[in-house]
Amino acid sequence: MSVRILVAYVSPKGSTAEIAQAIGKELQSAGYSVDIVELKSVSSLGGYHAVVIGGPFYMGKVVGDVGKFVGRYRDTLSKIPIAAFAVGVAPVGTKTGETDKAKKIFHDTLAPLEPVAETIFAGRIDLEKLNFIQKRMVGMVKAPVGDFRDWDAIGKWARELPGKFGV
Ligand SMILES: Cc1cc2nc3c(=O)[nH]c(=O)nc-3n(C[C@H](O)[C@H](O)[C@H](O)COP(=O)(O)O)c2cc1C
Repeated sequence: MSVRILVAYVSPKGSTAEIAQAIGKELQSAGYSVDIVELKSVSSLGGYHAVVIGGPFYMGKVVGDVGKFVGRYRDTLSKIPIAAFAVGVAPVGTKTGETDKAKKIFHDTLAPLEPVAETIFAGRIDLEKLNFIQKRMVGMVKAPVGDFRDWDAIGKWARELPGKFGV
């Protein structure tokens, strides 16, 4: 029987989706049967041996779908190994302590689940994809603009998952 892994994500502007795809491809290359699905499209976790959850930060919080997913599937998710990644620009920002703060917020969002791996990847701010208000917010907080995704780090994290999942 093949080992089935779900990579479930939310991605308002598409950069987290591409990270989820990259993680899913690594797991597929390692021989696992992987579904890469938007969080809101997940209707059952039946048959999965492990789950990877991903979502970005907006305005100091992880996008609400992540917390909702955790709440909805808490019982099942506490019985199988899970890993989780958040995406944001905190890791490439200039404010000290931002990443640690984000890590804590992310950890609290996932509670009471205890992921075997939990991380924050640098994301992408593409001004062309933002509405007027979002552009103003980015300007006001002087958020770094650009694509900061580190594909090597993402690939490495993904390749280490099966060992951590014990699958
Ligand atoms: C309006 C706005 C607010 C954001 N707020 C945060 C934040 O509070 N912390 C952070 O680390 N990144 C923040 N970001 C950066 C996003 O997390 C980053 O752009 C991410 O890659 C978006 O993911 P998506 O393309 O999947 O939607 C913000 C970006 C925008 C446009």
